[in-house]
Amino acid sequence: MRAAVFAVATTLLAATAGCLGDEEDAAPAPGDPAFVRSPALDVDNRSAHGQMRSHNAGQNCMHCHQARGPGLGRFTVGVTVLGPDGKPHANPVLELYGAPPGTGAPVLVSLPGDALGNIFSTDPQPFPDQARFVVVRSQDGTLRNQMPFPTESGACNQCHRPGFGVTLKRMM
Ligand code: HEC
Ligand code: HEC
Repeated sequence: MRAAVFAVATTLLAATAGCLGDEEDAAPAPGDPAFVRSPALDVDNRSAHGQMRSHNAGQNCMHCHQARGPGLGRFTVGVTVLGPDGKPHANPVLELYGAPPGTGAPVLVSLPGDALGNIFSTDPQPFPDQARFVVVRSQDGTLRNQMPFPTESGACNQCHRPGFGVTLKRMM
């Protein structure tokens, strides 16, 4: 009797496990705690003017460039900068400040963007412990914009989705 019950239970368990297995055939998605990231991906990866290595403009880079994602390098900053025409603007610059820009506060960090309009870095940043005021500008400084309050995250595109992209404005 005992043995029979055990046998039924085991069969049920096996059936359930089979079902779950079928549903979870796909690899865990980025951000899933079960996502296994190759240590070989944990390398430096920074944008520079003129480069064209990046991709996925407008998407949240940190969806994949993080501890539980497949992207090359764990980004501390990732943003796509658009021009006044709404298209990615080549070679933008991102400046981080500790106090509101324009009040004499010095630039703490200046990050050059690539030819595809993306600015990204794996360098340590104070986020989220410390917030930073941000300015984006064109390489020649004639286009510019800034966030009216400091950000605690360098995952800019997480909030700045299509339709609300980080966009440069003409200064004169
Ligand atoms: C959907 C996932 C995903 C998103 C979103 C994503 N990436 Fe990636 N990225 C990858 C993968 C995967 C690789 C390749 C990793 C490897 O080398 O195996 C990669 C590689 C890169 C590389 C290295 C390319 C090279 O060969 O030198 C750069 C630069 C890069 N991504 C920039 C970005 C930027 C900037 C963003 C946001 C605008 C972004 N990525 C968004 C998945 C993503
Ligand atoms: C948590 C969400 C969030 C994150 C992360 C974020 N922003 Fe913002 N940002 C906002 C919101 C909301 C506004 C709009 C404020 C307002 O009402 O004027 C804004 C406004 C801006 C503006 C001005 C928009 C305009 O045209 O008036 C710029 C430029 C900007 N952000 C750049 C950035 C950059 C660069 C980063 C990453 C370093 C970043 N933001 C990260 C939410 C975010």
